[in-house]
Amino acid sequence: MSEAKTIYLKDYKAPEFTVKTCDLVFELFEEYTQVTNLMQIVKMDKSAKDLVLDSVELELVEIHLNDVKLEEERYVVEKESLRVLDVEDEFKLIIINKIYPHRNSELEGLYKSGNIFCTQNEPEGFRRITPYIDRPDVMAVFKTTLVASREKYPVLLSNGNTESNFKLDDGRHGVTWSDPYPKPSYLFALVAGDLGVVKDKYITASGKYVRLNIYTDKGNESKCKHAMKSLKEAMQWDEEKYGREYDLSLYNIVAVDSFNMGAMENKGLNIFNSAYVLADEDTATDANFMGIQSVIAHEYFHNWTGNRITCRDWFQLTLKEGLTVFRDQCFSADLNSKEVQRIEDVKALRERQFVEDNSPMAHPIQPDSYMAINNFYTATVYEKGAEVIRMLHTLLGEQKYRKAMDLYFDTFDAQAVRTDDFLWAMSKAGEMNLEQFKRWYHQSGTPKLDVDEKFEDGTYTLTLIQKIPHAVDGSEQKPHFFPLKIGLLDESGKEILEKTLLISKEKEEFLFKTSFKPVLSINRDFSAPIIIDQKETHYGFLMKHDTNSFAKYEAAQLFGIQIIESLMQGNDINDEYVRAYGHILESDLDISYKALLLELPSISALMQRQNVVDFELIYDAIEKLQKHLASLYKEKLLEIYSKFHNPLCVDLDANSIGSRSIKNRCLKLLSSLKSNEMAVMANEQYSNSLTMTDKVAALDILENISSEYSAVAFKHFHDKYRQNTLVMNKYFSLLAASHREGTLERVIALQKDAAYNELVPNLVRSLVGTFTRNYKYFHAKDGSGYKFVADKIIDIDKINPQMASSLAGAFKIYKKLNVQNKKMMKVELERVVSTHSLSKNVYEIVSKIIK
Ligand code: PHE
Ligand code: ZN
Repeated sequence: MSEAKTIYLKDYKAPEFTVKTCDLVFELFEEYTQVTNLMQIVKMDKSAKDLVLDSVELELVEIHLNDVKLEEERYVVEKESLRVLDVEDEFKLIIINKIYPHRNSELEGLYKSGNIFCTQNEPEGFRRITPYIDRPDVMAVFKTTLVASREKYPVLLSNGNTESNFKLDDGRHGVTWSDPYPKPSYLFALVAGDLGVVKDKYITASGKYVRLNIYTDKGNESKCKHAMKSLKEAMQWDEEKYGREYDLSLYNIVAVDSFNMGAMENKGLNIFNSAYVLADEDTATDANFMGIQSVIAHEYFHNWTGNRITCRDWFQLTLKEGLTVFRDQCFSADLNSKEVQRIEDVKALRERQFVEDNSPMAHPIQPDSYMAINNFYTATVYEKGAEVIRMLHTLLGEQKYRKAMDLYFDTFDAQAVRTDDFLWAMSKAGEMNLEQFKRWYHQSGTPKLDVDEKFEDGTYTLTLIQKIPHAVDGSEQKPHFFPLKIGLLDESGKEILEKTLLISKEKEEFLFKTSFKPVLSINRDFSAPIIIDQKETHYGFLMKHDTNSFAKYEAAQLFGIQIIESLMQGNDINDEYVRAYGHILESDLDISYKALLLELPSISALMQRQNVVDFELIYDAIEKLQKHLASLYKEKLLEIYSKFHNPLCVDLDANSIGSRSIKNRCLKLLSSLKSNEMAVMANEQYSNSLTMTDKVAALDILENISSEYSAVAFKHFHDKYRQNTLVMNKYFSLLAASHREGTLERVIALQKDAAYNELVPNLVRSLVGTFTRNYKYFHAKDGSGYKFVADKIIDIDKINPQMASSLAGAFKIYKKLNVQNKKMMKVELERVVSTHSLSKNVYEIVSKIIK
């Protein structure tokens, strides 16, 4: 599979033709679907002769040009396109073709999830439905008629508003939908099924009535409450914070079980992975509830940042994704806890994006080339993209940022634009030169900042040096422009100054007049997505005194890392750290925040600092530290546990969620003692607690301390929930993450569980995806973990290339592995890449890793 073609941004050309209107008729049958596509097409580039439509795996029935059936010599069917020869400046084209949704396991285009017909067209799925100019800068007005069996598919949905309904004599019926807003084909959607619905309404700020519907498999209606509540919160937030109202009188959401990603923002008809819609106290964890709130909001926010203003081409993906992630992060921060939200967002960025940025798959938030665009829905484009918008927000300040967003909406509404257009609005309304800032869009890798401090004669000097990594191809990259928020504290811990420094040169020096040497608190709020390298550190002091909630957390993490690294070198545990940890245990900080402060550094955080990664060394050291803290602070940890353990509470307010979070953190730490006492506690929690959060926390502990209770509890869990796929995802994840002997064998056996199905991405992610994050067994020295995952990639690639390539990402650590692991992984990577008829998706990832 070496013929995969690379697409370059520099080769972008405006479309030669555009589609004014697209009227579609779908006749849905069990065995096939017939699509009739009527387009009004206009030539934009008068020198163009042939019309080339994207067309993948379509069975052509017939073509009519201006109502005349086309003879075969007037068109050419090419590998992934349909060429209509020698066309006029303006014409009408009708194409009839057949597709086979029930055989579609890639989950792109029109497919079946259980008994529901649904679509996924971003980025290039529409060309699997009907021949089209399938690129986001072609925007058409769509009208869609669905015809299907009335009994099997009573609900027929598409974008926009219902125009008419009709019944046919043969037991079939139809609905016509029309969407007044021109849109690219990737936002087209349809759904047909026998669905349950939850209805609500929203009155916009200007008084418009909007009907809200959430559709799901029948029987799940009661699990849609939280999603509906979140939708209304999001609608209101966007009015208050961005002055944006919803623009149709109907907003539909449909939950389906088989979906490659989280959800999709199709105009007026969002399609969701059911994991981001369905929840109730018995089946969903607190994290699930938070996830639903943020994904529902994310898709809603896309209506303005993505749909009304869309991307010119897929290289601009971060234009809508980075911005929309930033918007959903701010929304979650406003509705929940600001300090916790910021820490969680940074944690996620560092666990996923920093690793990507330091791998052969590193790319700028605006890549300049790709083989498979599906591979670029990455943590970099999304999460680093959001950090870049956040920096703009910091640089401009709330007021000017809002002015710039207004200008962006006013100027580019109904257009397909570039990140440069967005930056133009930011620069103009923000009155700021952003030329250097643009490098964030075009350079890859995480910048490092060397920090040097000096105090002499009443002057404190801060010297900062940017270390910009080379790009993947080895080329040099230039210094960035970014805001760096700092604080200075006196020796009693009092803050004497807080300031946002503007960093643009490779080396910067800042002088402060003080009568004493201050303690530096740096990159407060994580104002820039960089790595700080500080010569002199005062982590213990900052853990106690820092007034910035993020910086305090950061000090706790970095101190923990320092201690674990020193343990890895054979040293003893530093007492100051242990005391600072105890200080936090005793503090009366907000409990959710406190739970985060008590979290020890992750394996991933430690791994990122090693040039040659040796996992065994890392988890032995972490385990040692856990045991030490757990035995020393056992009484306090038990006290916190019993204070906040409230097995009958199922509330979702901040205090109840915080209580679960902190007492489960304490129990987890205590479980490192591997004592029977802790097993008994976890077992009781499993049996008595009503929330899924508590059950999952207890099962995780039971599984990892290999107690006699584990098998019984897991069997009970399986018996109780085996019909509920969303809960079974947790079952598979818990077992795939286990550190107990024999995990790989159990993972292999679990594939035969009646609830498991390789066609459902959520299940594959839970079992195989989770296993790739099980450092102990995925990186087993005998290579057995690598072999298993490579086999799965090869199998699943035949079913769903997108799913397979996301599993292949697990190998991106290759170059940093120790000799033995590297040797084992290499064998598997070579086996995968030489597989016959490998998809370009997997080929792109694996070939970049072994290059
Ligand atoms: N655009 C979707 C989102 O951001 C993500 C997505 C991409 C979903 C591709 C499906 C396929 O929410
Ligand atoms: Zn998105």
